[in-house]
Amino acid sequence: MRLDKLAIFALLLWLATITVFAWFFIRGVTTEGSDGRAAIVLQPAERDLVLSEMRGLLVATQQILEGVNQGDMQHIAKAARAAGMAGAADVNPALMAKLPVEFKQLGMSVHREMDDIAKAAEDGKSPAEILQMASDTLNKCVACHAAWQIKSSGQ
Ligand code: HEC
Repeated sequence: MRLDKLAIFALLLWLATITVFAWFFIRGVTTEGSDGRAAIVLQPAERDLVLSEMRGLLVATQQILEGVNQGDMQHIAKAARAAGMAGAADVNPALMAKLPVEFKQLGMSVHREMDDIAKAAEDGKSPAEILQMASDTLNKCVACHAAWQIKSSGQ
């Protein structure tokens, strides 16, 4: 009888722990932002990492447009590939856990679409098609920026 109760208690404790982890994984670590958006709270170094990835996305976008303008498909493919999934894979788990799940999904879909743009350029798709894809991807940049800001927990 005693043992049964202990087993049930252990099971409940385990379930509670899993639930808390799942809750954090889905919600991330967020608070109200200074301007009406939701703010993700990160350590200064984590914020720097995310923002440097962001600047990489801006560089890729500029380079894609330049490639389209010059009709240089290889330039487009190289720029888009640099912002693709391969570059996004090595984010550490502690940081991943702080990012809300919609944020991660939106972020990953942008990296995937950068790979799609690289492939489209390699497959010799028309500049108009590449521009349409880039424009669709930029909608995601816009949507995410409208919803989230990043606060540093160290300041
Ligand atoms: C999943 C969400 C998300 C997506 C998608 C996203 N961003 Fe961001 N980006 C952010 C957040 C959050 C910030 C910080 C904004 C703030 O704190 O005000 C940011 C900041 C930036 C910055 C500022 C960097 C700095 O050094 O301060 C640039 C540039 C940027 N993003 C470019 C882009 C571009 C270009 C794309 C699309 C190709 C993109 N981002 C897609 C969330 C996103």
